[in-house]
Amino acid sequence: MTIEGTGAYKLEIFEVPENDLGYERPWLYDKQLEGIFCTARYAIIEASTKSGKTVGCLVWLAEQAILFGGPNKNFWWVAPVSDQADIAFRRMQEAFPRDMYEANMSRKFIKLWNGTIIWFKSADKPDSLYGEDVYAAVVDEATRCKDESWYALRSTLTATRAPVRIIGNVKGRANWMYKMARLAQTGDEPDMHYVKITAYDAAAAGVITYDEIVDAKKIYPDIVFRELYLAEPADDGGNPFGITHIQKCVAPMSSNLPVAWGWDVAKHNNWTVGIALDRDGNVCRFHRWQDTWDNTIQRMTHITFGCAAMVDSTGSGDQLLERLRTSGHTNFQGYVFGGWKSKQDIMLGLAVAIQNREITFPEGVIVEELEAFEYVNVESSDRVLYAAPKGVHDDCVDALAMAVKLWRRQSVYGGDAIPILMPKTSGWIIQ
Ligand SMILES: Nc1ncnc2c1ncn2[C@@H]1O[C@H](COP(=O)(O)OP(=O)(O)O)[C@@H](O)[C@H]1O
Ligand SMILES: [Mg+2]
Repeated sequence: MTIEGTGAYKLEIFEVPENDLGYERPWLYDKQLEGIFCTARYAIIEASTKSGKTVGCLVWLAEQAILFGGPNKNFWWVAPVSDQADIAFRRMQEAFPRDMYEANMSRKFIKLWNGTIIWFKSADKPDSLYGEDVYAAVVDEATRCKDESWYALRSTLTATRAPVRIIGNVKGRANWMYKMARLAQTGDEPDMHYVKITAYDAAAAGVITYDEIVDAKKIYPDIVFRELYLAEPADDGGNPFGITHIQKCVAPMSSNLPVAWGWDVAKHNNWTVGIALDRDGNVCRFHRWQDTWDNTIQRMTHITFGCAAMVDSTGSGDQLLERLRTSGHTNFQGYVFGGWKSKQDIMLGLAVAIQNREITFPEGVIVEELEAFEYVNVESSDRVLYAAPKGVHDDCVDALAMAVKLWRRQSVYGGDAIPILMPKTSGWIIQ
């Protein structure tokens, strides 16, 4: 039996003579064993990314199914969304010799030779987690599984008094896994067990390299690094800017002249947002409106008035930039939010500016949008994405991030692109 991770790692678990499974647990490092293979019914493991949570739990669930399974006994793997459940489904199939199971691709289960069924389920449909008796379960990336999914799963485990492994990266404090982990950590609950695995533990075991940790520390905002690699939950749900840092940058709107504008122009139902920074990095103009395309162009050129400006030129924004520049507004330059990398780059620049208190902004929509921002760790693809949660606008964040990018350039080159005459706009214009 082989359990393969995303890297080169393979576990040779066992050969199967007819009557003797000859099962042998593959090599796992101490913290994996201590956290996952403990005797407690509820084991909670808060761990670094790529520390072997998923691999360790695939081995555990396979072992439970082999040793304690039987005809029509159910074992569950639960992941936040179906794509993640699919990854585990595939990895588990690759783990077993082909003639030892049948896979049902549409219903996502594998049926072992002994009649045991291992299901791969998504937590975004909590209703599908009620019902059957389950003999062991894993909740992968538990901080991102809805509360309701845990309530549903727990009811399913009650009759069988089945063990469950709850694993994941930490993600703020407002989630059920965080609460369970703190309870387990007290040591007062006899059937609960808690282990934290940091990236340094994984590196000491040779599962990741120390270089990878050093790189991550350089690339990510401190808050993101601490959550993803040190398993230290942030106060505030993993906001990449940091709620306390955001609050410390709040100041009344500056009345100085702009040196750099960021414009996020509405594509569909969104808002057009323009934010300007003065020479010292303080927000000194803020506009937010919904208007026709033609009016929007007219208004933004009028307001920007020759000052250096960066505009979102992604997709149809490209035509906008073209139109601005051909009509003589060469003070506008484009920024393409093409793919995750450019978004990540510009948001990291903004995070640095906020965490170093290089900029200020007034209370209100800008702060609200910054505070709602999140990062999402896409484990399967080695990416961290920065975005507003679904349904929340991020036009102000985008506009501010562009203004900051341009402002840095301006301050490097002396900030001479300041127009002499500015249209009189005082305070915010929100329509
Ligand atoms: N016990 C182990 N021995 C060797 N390599 C391991 C072990 N556990 C994990 N790995 C390696 O680490 C990689 C990441 O493991 P994974 O379980 O996907 O991490 P996580 O779920 O914590 O992000 C795997 O692809 C594998 O290469
Ligand atoms: Mg994983």
